[in-house]
Amino acid sequence: MMKTQVTIIGAGPSGLLLGQLLHKAGIRTLIIERQTPEYVLGRIRAGILESGTVDLLREAGVAKRMDREGLIHHGVEFIFDGKRIPVPLSELTDGKNVMVYGQTEVTRDLMQARNESDAPTIYGVSQVMIHDAKSDRPSVTFEKDGEHCRVECDFIAGCDGFHGVSRQSIPRDVIREYESVWPFGWLGLLADTPPVNPELIYAHHQRGFVLCSQRSLTRSRYYLQVPLSEQVEAWSDERFWAELKSRLPHELAEKLVTGHSLEKSIAPLRSYVVEPMQYGKLFLVGDAAHIVPPTGAKGLNLAASDVNYLWRILTQYYHAGRTDLLARYSQLALNRVWKGERFSWFMTHLLHDFQDKSEFDRKMQEADRHYYLESVAGLTTIAENYVGLPFENVG
Ligand code: APR
Ligand code: PHB
Repeated sequence: MMKTQVTIIGAGPSGLLLGQLLHKAGIRTLIIERQTPEYVLGRIRAGILESGTVDLLREAGVAKRMDREGLIHHGVEFIFDGKRIPVPLSELTDGKNVMVYGQTEVTRDLMQARNESDAPTIYGVSQVMIHDAKSDRPSVTFEKDGEHCRVECDFIAGCDGFHGVSRQSIPRDVIREYESVWPFGWLGLLADTPPVNPELIYAHHQRGFVLCSQRSLTRSRYYLQVPLSEQVEAWSDERFWAELKSRLPHELAEKLVTGHSLEKSIAPLRSYVVEPMQYGKLFLVGDAAHIVPPTGAKGLNLAASDVNYLWRILTQYYHAGRTDLLARYSQLALNRVWKGERFSWFMTHLLHDFQDKSEFDRKMQEADRHYYLESVAGLTTIAENYVGLPFENVG
């Protein structure tokens, strides 16, 4: 039998960041992860960090490489009807910005920091089960190399993603789920080619939405809206590049540098929130509690937002005896989660082509585009959400 203060289930960005911040605060944690570190690092995810996320990574002491290699972006670009519309994020938000630094790199830096500390992580666990979350003595059991293990703790952080066990171990009748599945997916391609444009481009086109993103000055990430029925095997690199060009204005299509793909995959789009995000001593964090479509670049940032609140609440509990804050986690986290859901939903609606929209709804979508992108007020609301809304103070 093991003992710790906080058991963290899942070593994705949520679990690792929470673990690092708690470790720095002198709080003991055990992280258990189903996969191997290599598998976790093999997942290609988004790459835009809000400044609040950047600050949190600095606070966690894992920002050295990010501050060296990350690219500060002061703007993004939209394209509608072939017209390019720059959105000067910094100008519209009092100097705020976002950073381009891949989630895979964030995870790598966090893993390295964890390895260099004496805080324990167990990879390759199975049969993870949560016990007595409502009691004063919660515990987690799991199997590692055929051996049965049990850890007693004060709290459990469910950082195990959308398909994890944490949310599923809460009785159905005390939670409520809100979900909307979108009628298309994103086909992504990663390549070691220079990005087509210095800023990210979010482009609407009759053939479907396009995102021109990047990981560095020499690595690009592009996405195409595709029907859900599409198979990735049907997309050779050549076909991808040709389709991308057909959805971009001529001057950009001409500048596009193509090359071999390093990765290509199709992801469905989902909006999902569970309420509340806590059950007794169990707290849900990140994708375990909510999913956003990627159009707002909010997935990782909302995970960091949850971590921000939970880390502060637990630190106040251990350092100042503040038991009263524990019950506030779900509400604090959800206030910001729903705003992130709203923005991701708004951006997804604004930019995609919806096959079965009525003619009236198409006109509304068009009017939305004109309104938001032709007025300073419209652009400002997009900008302030994109760079990230402020965190609430905890106690
Ligand atoms: N036991 C232990 N670990 C588990 C279990 C389990 N039963 N189930 C899942 N896991 C692990 C997964 O293998 C994964 O490594 O939990 C981790 C969850 O990581 P993520 O799915 O990356 O979720 P999170 O850390 O919340 O990160 C959120 O990831 O999906 C993106 O857009 C999202 O950027 C956001 C970020
Ligand atoms: C990415 O670089 O993968 C990315 C960037 C912005 C988004 C979504 C994905 O909105």
